[in-house]
Amino acid sequence: MSKLETVHVALGARAYDVLVGEGLLANAGEHLKPVLKRPRVAIVTDETVARLHLAKFTESLARAGIAQQSIILPPGEQTKCFAELERLLDRLIAAQVERNDVVVALGGGVIGDLAGFAAAILRRGVEYVQIPTTLLSQVDSSVGGKTAIDTAAGKNLVGAFHQPRLVLADIDALDTLPQRELLAGYAEVVKYGLLGDADFFAWLEANGERLIGGDKAARRHAVAASVTHKARIVEGDERETGGKRALLNLGHTFGHALEVEAGLGDQLLHGEGVAIGMVLAFDLSVRLGLCPAGDAARARRHLARAGLPVTPRLGNAWPDPERLIAHMAQDKKVSGGKLTFILARGIGQAFVTQEVTTAQLHELFAAARAA
Ligand SMILES: NC(=O)c1ccc[n+]([C@@H]2O[C@H](COP(=O)([O-])OP(=O)(O)OC[C@H]3O[C@@H](n4cnc5c(N)ncnc54)[C@H](O)[C@@H]3O)[C@@H](O)[C@H]2O)c1
Ligand SMILES: [Zn+2]
Repeated sequence: MSKLETVHVALGARAYDVLVGEGLLANAGEHLKPVLKRPRVAIVTDETVARLHLAKFTESLARAGIAQQSIILPPGEQTKCFAELERLLDRLIAAQVERNDVVVALGGGVIGDLAGFAAAILRRGVEYVQIPTTLLSQVDSSVGGKTAIDTAAGKNLVGAFHQPRLVLADIDALDTLPQRELLAGYAEVVKYGLLGDADFFAWLEANGERLIGGDKAARRHAVAASVTHKARIVEGDERETGGKRALLNLGHTFGHALEVEAGLGDQLLHGEGVAIGMVLAFDLSVRLGLCPAGDAARARRHLARAGLPVTPRLGNAWPDPERLIAHMAQDKKVSGGKLTFILARGIGQAFVTQEVTTAQLHELFAAARAA
């Protein structure tokens, strides 16, 4: 078997390992066995992932003598809703998932968030294992224990902190991922460099193209490095109470507003919004005299070269700044009525602030439009 990297997430009684490498799905049975109290799992996945990857996974379970039952849901963000949660819980109960059993989330962030939340509340909490199959879910959503569904009022408004028991990030799964989804996940990889690791950002400048092109060693390194960053931040602030975890929201206040304005659909993927949002965060940092202009230019250049959008334009239209600011005010990141922004003193030096004014945001959007 090819090289595996293990990232340990040190959360005391809730500690777990994230394995990153090739062939993990094909050998998943062996990796799962030590975390099972009885040789049986319930798998939650979506139709697309089931078609591409489920057989390989269930065969490896069978070889390891692990019985399984699969629950296959429709793909897409709409699946993260109350109705699907209820149906999923009913099916997990019908599958006789007991208190000591393990639920496996096989798929992207949608499946991970929904199945993780179902596991958090089924019989007051059963264990779950994440097998993330998108780049975004491998570097972000599968690690850290945030689970949620969306409501009519917005994304991720109902959920729980529930850490997985194990995460298997199989680099091979990314081979079938559409390029646009891969790039959206890449934006989150770049985020880790921009927020706290200038050396990693420089590595991405040198190796990003290889990674996007399919190079397995580059992908393994980037996923493991990203997970390590996320793990260290989560370890320092598991429930986002200390401010440290908020750094992970670099680009997200802007990105989320753009996503909402674009209708939370296919027009702008989450990672695309984050790419634009990170560029805006760096531009704002420069405008406030906090960050060298050269660093902001480097961030923008790298994201653009990777093929990600870097200007806050939706199709051919420039969104109305008033509306964007109104969306930001609805964000979970608002506390005490103040907007929270992640700004940077340079590449790898992000910090949290609530000192940005509406006037500064208007100037920023006007400048982006004029550029
Ligand atoms: N919990 C967290 O900390 C956290 C962090 C970031 C994002 N999220 C959530 O994650 C979700 C987005 O995750 P995502 O981008 O993985 O979306 P997703 O789960 O919708 O996956 C994107 C698309 O790719 C398909 N797909 C998945 N794996 C594939 C593969 N290997 N080959 C081909 N197609 C594949 C899916 O069927 C889907 O159509 C959002 O709901 C977001 O709120 C959660
Ligand atoms: Zn994100």
